[in-house]
Amino acid sequence: MAPKKYQTHHGMHDLLPEELSKWQKLESVIHEVAKRHHFQEIRTPILEPTELIARGIGQLTDIVSKEMFSFERGDDHYVLRPEGTAPVARAYVQHNLHQKGGSQKLYYMGPFFRAERPQKGRQRQFHQFGAELIGSPDPMADIEIISFMMEIYDAIGLTDTSLKLNSVGNPESRKNYKQALQDHFRPHLHNMSEVSQHRFETNPMRILDSKEKEDQEFIEGAPIMTDYLTPESQAHFDKVRRYLDQLNIPYELDSRLVRGLDYYTETAFELISDQIGSQDALGGGGRYDLLIEEVGGPATPAVGFACGIERLFLAAESANIEFDAASPLDVYIVTRGDNAREWALSNLETFRQNNLRTTMNFDGKSMKAQMKDADRHSARFCIIVGDDELNADQFTLRNMADSAEQQLTFDQLIKAITSDR
Ligand code: HAM
Repeated sequence: MAPKKYQTHHGMHDLLPEELSKWQKLESVIHEVAKRHHFQEIRTPILEPTELIARGIGQLTDIVSKEMFSFERGDDHYVLRPEGTAPVARAYVQHNLHQKGGSQKLYYMGPFFRAERPQKGRQRQFHQFGAELIGSPDPMADIEIISFMMEIYDAIGLTDTSLKLNSVGNPESRKNYKQALQDHFRPHLHNMSEVSQHRFETNPMRILDSKEKEDQEFIEGAPIMTDYLTPESQAHFDKVRRYLDQLNIPYELDSRLVRGLDYYTETAFELISDQIGSQDALGGGGRYDLLIEEVGGPATPAVGFACGIERLFLAAESANIEFDAASPLDVYIVTRGDNAREWALSNLETFRQNNLRTTMNFDGKSMKAQMKDADRHSARFCIIVGDDELNADQFTLRNMADSAEQQLTFDQLIKAITSDR
């Protein structure tokens, strides 16, 4: 019996070379925009303590209650990180970054894991880029975060998006609002979905997030968070709106916007695309002024965002945005005979030192097969080498675009290729 073939897990994907050229391009845009905004990169482990994630994101959220990939080893409880904010908060506390003085501006990208039901735009392993500005309560920090996020989409030409904005207030605002929501839903509870009945007790704000049909009519008439903001929360929100206007960043107020993570306070936002199906959030974020303290640090206000990379590519594809194609090969060395192969092996470095992308054939194929291989890799030039060429220091340089051939010495050959760029 032939050995079994294996497949990736459901909702997890290989990224093959053809696809990765656009990932690399996007990553370089993210690094570039981060530099312009003076954010510094942080990389945290893929595995985090389960308790950190449960505490940070909230025990009752979907992510923690249903979607964690977790396991135990000895006394340690590990979870594959489902998001980046709690890990960055942990790192901030663990390394006493507050002692560095001033706010910390950190950004990251990488794989994240949630055991959700896979569909278009929703994987179990997905990738995010994100940023966290830790240490400032100022609404201007919210703007720095939102403008960082928007600039990445601008830089790749993805402008057909909408920014939804809301405030979830401070704890006092939320307490008042929860009360108002419970008063509103209580008389209708028996007609509402089971999930919402459960959320009524645990977190009535999440009822607003419900996609269940039977809940919609009651959600429509529900009170609005921003009517319950304390004067401080209202002032913060007003400033965020005013600064967004000043920076000409368009947004829409969305009083129903509640995010799926429990740590938010004050500003909450999402960037939406109507081109990518039902999973339409390209990214989201907001303020989380209590999280750092919650995970053992000093009381420290913070704000951040994260965006899904796969969803960005879905939106880019529907907007026909081209990312640079894979970089072509400059030189393919076609060899005849063993001496030529050895010569090629020891001279690859000379080409590469001249900044030429160069390869040879590593499976000892015929010359014809090597020419075909060169074609397949879109080589700009082939160099044909055999014993005669080596003895005479005269090589055939073939321009693959027009098949023109020249006889050149080794030095001339390098010059000809480098000057043809
Ligand atoms: P989030 O809204 O859970 O926020 O995720 C941010 C983005 O990650 C989503 O808008 C979506 O584009 C992408 N995403 C999430 N789950 C999946 C999935 N299963 N498949 C594909 N893409 C997905 C956060 O993660 C917060 N940490 C954002 C933040 C940073 N808040 C403050 N700072």
